[in-house]
This record gives sequence, structure tokens and C-alpha cells, in this order.
Amino acid sequence: MTAQITIRRPDDWHVHLRDGAMLKAVAGHTARQFARAIVMPNLTPPVTTVAAAEAYRQRILDALSEGSDFTPLMTCYLTDGADPAEIERGFEQGVFAACKLYPAHATTNSAHGVTDIRKMTQVLETMQRIGMPLLVHGEVTSRDVDIFDREAVFIDRILTPLVKDMPELKIVLEHITTAEAAEFVAASGPKIAATITPQHLIINRNAMFDGGIRPHAYCLPVAKREQHRLAVRKAAVSGSPKFFLGTDSAPHEIHRKESACGCAGIFNAPFALESYAQVFEDEGVLDRLEGFASEHGPNFYGLPLNEGTVTLKREEVTVPETMGEADIRLVPYHAGETLRWRFVD
Ligand code: DOR
Ligand code: ZN
Repeated sequence: MTAQITIRRPDDWHVHLRDGAMLKAVAGHTARQFARAIVMPNLTPPVTTVAAAEAYRQRILDALSEGSDFTPLMTCYLTDGADPAEIERGFEQGVFAACKLYPAHATTNSAHGVTDIRKMTQVLETMQRIGMPLLVHGEVTSRDVDIFDREAVFIDRILTPLVKDMPELKIVLEHITTAEAAEFVAASGPKIAATITPQHLIINRNAMFDGGIRPHAYCLPVAKREQHRLAVRKAAVSGSPKFFLGTDSAPHEIHRKESACGCAGIFNAPFALESYAQVFEDEGVLDRLEGFASEHGPNFYGLPLNEGTVTLKREEVTVPETMGEADIRLVPYHAGETLRWRFVD
């Protein structure tokens, strides 16, 4: 049995680091495991300008301990009024790594999101021209579409026509949860990729209703039926360069999760690699973890691979019931469970 694995330093291609006290409580967990991360812009107010992204990047760096060499990769939150010139300037200056498309009201802090993709034509044409990736929260928001179908319907109604209209636009379909998404991405050209979270590899929708309502298993897009989990899992471990690691770690304080209207999001940053490693091991392809975690993402974004390595040892690690700093209390993904791999450095 493999006693330890060493891989090239990985990156997280989708994370929520938040701001203020929450940022201080969570940033170190991501920086400990990952060299770089694509940082989501859904703050209040959202990050829509180059100046706001630069200021946020500095707050992230300030929240980390001395000596950290973590690189936050910043994103621009698209609104109906997004300015193509500002986006192009941010990308050319190396501030914006990508733009994030939230359909309005799809998820946390998405009220300023895009109400109609047709309003984005100029922005998307600019991005296509300059080679800037579009990161998509792929769910329709109409109340008449069942929540479990919203990703598949988004692919039919929005993504398929978009890819046809803008064949050179780089698109990452974020946090995929369905067989339809895995198939769509696999069947598309090299400009289309997807990120996959640990939870969507491990839980199906039953986890939200296991003996009672389980708010800590709730995120968006919601976990789907078992057949979808299996399809997403197959894609992740396939070795295809179109699928890569994006935790979507999305911390919310305990009282905001355990509530009559609990927030969507799973805080998986503290044990992210351990969680993915277990999946790849269970599938008998630990040798493919490095591609998924450390190579496919940078290759898609056109960024250099990281130097250096990280090591996971086969040692049991028990995930605490709660974590946090100061008065921020968080329930981590896998709380109370024992995992088989320990991240050592
Ligand atoms: O579960 C989620 N939480 N999904 C998202 O798309 C947003 C995120 C958040 O910001 O909390
Ligand atoms: Zn997210």
C-alpha cells in the first residue's frame, strides 16, 4: 500500500476567501495547501473594478502569515453594466485572471449578477479576443425550473448557444454536479473545461436529508442523484485535461448555516487535498491526482506549473467538529470523520 504521495504543488481554481474577520480565519487554510487560487469576487459589494481587485488582493496577502508565498488570482464579477475596457485593462495588467458570470440571484451575493447573457455580448467578445477565461456558475434561476435540473437546463439554454456563438472563448463550467455537465465538457473542444469540488465527488443529495436536514451538506449547485455523482467522479479521475481541482470552499458562520434559511456553501479548505486524495485512491488512480490538482488547471489558464511539491502521508486524521479563529466558528467539510491521508507539507 502506498505510504505517501508527493505531487507538484497544487492550485485551487475556485475558492471563496471572503473579507474581514472571515478572510483572516480562512485564508491560511487555502494558502497552506495551494500555491495559487482563483478567488471568487462575490463580496458585498462585488469586485467589479481593477482598483477593487487590487485592494482585495492586498487584503488577502495581509491576512496571511509572514513568509507565505501564496498567490491569489483575482476575478471580476460581471454585472449587466460591466465595462469591456475596464476588464481588458485588468487582464492586460495582470490583475484579473478571469471574469465570473453569476446569473442574477443564482447563489450567495449574486443579486448584482447578469440578468440576461445577451447584455454581455460586448464583454464576451472582448474576452474572447484577449484570451481571458469566463468562469460560469451554470444554473438557470427561473423558479419554474426544478432546482435539481437547473444545471442541465443552463447547459441547454445558455451554454450551448454561447459556445456556438463564441467558439474561441475560454469557458470554465464551475463546480459541475451532473452527468450532463460532465458529458458536455468532455464533448466540447479544448476551450471548454470544468472544475470539480470534493463534495460533489463524495456526496449525493441524500446527504442533505440524512436522518434530518443537514445544512452543512448544502451548497450550490446542490448535490444531485447518485448517477450524477458517479459521472462527475468518472470525469475527475479520467485523466482528461478538461477537468481540474476547484474546491468552491465557501465558509459561512455556523449560525448562518444552521438557520431557518441556511446559506449555501461548504467549507472544505482545511482538508481539501486529503479529501480528493481519498477519492483518487478509492478509484485506484492516485497517480492521476497530480494532473487534476497541479497540471490541468495551469495548462488551461496558460500559466506556468508550480515549482516545489507537497506530500500526503497515509496517516489517519480526524476532522474537528468546528474550526475558526476569534469569534468566527465554522463547521468544516467532513466534520467528525476520520480521513486516511494527512497533508504534511
Ligand atoms: O454553495 C455555494 N456557496 N455556491 C456558490 O455558488 C456561492 C457560494 C458562496 O459564496 O457562499
Ligand atoms: Zn463558488
